[in-house]
Amino acid sequence: MPRPLSIAPSVLPVDFSRLGDEVMALEKAGVDLIHWDVMDGVFVPNLTFGPDVIASTRPLVDLEFEAHLMVVEPDRLVERYVEAGCSTVLVHVEACDHLHRTLAHIADLGATPGVALNPHTPAEVIRNVRDLVGVVLVMTVNPGFGGQSYIESMESKVTEVASLLDGYNCAVEVDGGIGPTTVGAVVAAGADRLVSGSALFRDDEGLEHAVADLRARAVAAQA
Ligand code: DX5
Ligand code: ZN
Repeated sequence: MPRPLSIAPSVLPVDFSRLGDEVMALEKAGVDLIHWDVMDGVFVPNLTFGPDVIASTRPLVDLEFEAHLMVVEPDRLVERYVEAGCSTVLVHVEACDHLHRTLAHIADLGATPGVALNPHTPAEVIRNVRDLVGVVLVMTVNPGFGGQSYIESMESKVTEVASLLDGYNCAVEVDGGIGPTTVGAVVAAGADRLVSGSALFRDDEGLEHAVADLRARAVAAQA
């Protein structure tokens, strides 16, 4: 039985001068949760959202917030993002010296722990933390910026991760280059939680159409 699909828009492409309106527009467009791409300028070259920015939008919508922490030493910051209203916090395995401890810490804070894997990182790294995570994120681009090209070779890794998670209550998330032309293959490979940024915002027929179209293509690929 395939897991229910979730559409998780990245807010990287939005007009930051109207961030609150944009988050409300995403809720109206029918997304399932908001994906906050948090970057520290060290783990990745870009710098984005502090916890206070996320907290400022928290009261505006009822949607779940997930924080994708593309930061070094995430233990320093996890609690701040939970306090800001993120109920899922994803850390990169490549940024954690003690991943098991970090994930347990996120759970102790009452949030759902997630682990993100850069394209070079093998699926096998999740084997000993499967019991701790609610989301495994397979990066389908190298992290740092939106609008990059999808890395097709990640599809086999998505399938490996889905297989490792068989029997565990854990979402298989993908992030990077996810849009109408890539969503079918990545869902067929085993993904059920779809982060999309630029593809959603460049649909000429608007955000609601983009979300509905992405969802329809994903559902068709699960069938
Ligand atoms: C990369 C970011 C992007 C973003 C989605 O660090 O995580 O993947 O969420 O970007 P698009 O959908 O524009 O590729
Ligand atoms: Zn992301």
